[in-house]
Amino acid sequence: MKEKIEHLIREIESFRADTEAQMEDFRLKYLSKKGMIPSLFGEFRNVPNEQKREVGVLLNTLKTKAQEQIERFKAQLDEKEESSEGNIDLTRPANWSNAGSRHPLSIVRNEIIDIFGRIGFTVAEGPEIEDDFHNFTALNFPEEHPARDMQDTFFIEKDPDIALRTHTSSVQVRTMENSKPPIRMIFPGRVFRNEAISARAHCIFHQVEGLYVDENVSFADLKQTLLYFAKEMFGENTDIRLRPSYFPFTEPSAEMDVSCMICGGKGCNICKYTGWVEILGCGMVDPNVLESCGIDPQKYSGFAFGMGIERITMLKYQINDLRLFFENDLRFLKQFEASY
Ligand code: DAH
Repeated sequence: MKEKIEHLIREIESFRADTEAQMEDFRLKYLSKKGMIPSLFGEFRNVPNEQKREVGVLLNTLKTKAQEQIERFKAQLDEKEESSEGNIDLTRPANWSNAGSRHPLSIVRNEIIDIFGRIGFTVAEGPEIEDDFHNFTALNFPEEHPARDMQDTFFIEKDPDIALRTHTSSVQVRTMENSKPPIRMIFPGRVFRNEAISARAHCIFHQVEGLYVDENVSFADLKQTLLYFAKEMFGENTDIRLRPSYFPFTEPSAEMDVSCMICGGKGCNICKYTGWVEILGCGMVDPNVLESCGIDPQKYSGFAFGMGIERITMLKYQINDLRLFFENDLRFLKQFEASY
């Protein structure tokens, strides 16, 4: 009898009931009036007296276990019913997912930050409302430079001049004023120019500025850094070329082209059949600029660069109208999948 009960306990413990019917089978087999447990209780009176105590305890354990199993099966089946397919109303309209997507300019900005981050450039930001010193004077703009003209710059106040920054180069100045070399940073941000809005120009756009200042920084460092960037951004086969240019805050200055990512350099309408597209301005930081910011130009040198995020995004995604970035048309925005 003892063995029989112990065997039943194990049997009950390993019983599975996945359906109502199986649960009912279990109940009938073990617990119903004609089930095994009541009949064992019936046999109990035949157990020799000296074993009654031990067998009694076992029998009660068996009964409790069986009842607990029934409770468990019930709970499991209830839970299953709540989430079961049979309960879904297939005629109900689907729930709309309102998850947004990242703006293409944000995707490309994040990618630029990531690419420079991998070679040790950190990120900082500066104010969009700037004074004349940080936007122009410290950057070596002569008094009569046309960029200081109302035609190009949105002034907020005159004398002293306060304006919406026209480029992120102003953040170079703020950074050099407040930190000592080595400096290896990029500055993403919004800039403002008094331009008529067209497919190729806007009064608000975005730039990423780069600045590297240390002892013995050379033009070769600049070139290699930009080559690395171009390959990471547009693909391993991308070439760069630097053309001499002029910016007041760099000497020498250059503009950088990358080999056309659309035609691979063969010539197409994106690169106007030249095989090259311009993506940024750069140069060696002018010693006057270092001096204005309290950095000794005898000891330190540096390079800087500035790129337009819109331009790079247009090239990367073959977008031909700048205005699309600012209209927030969902049909445009939802085409971009954020990998950054
Ligand atoms: N500030 C320039 C512009 O807005 C871009 C630029 C050119 C930034 C050369 C630089 C640089 O740092 O070295 O057109």
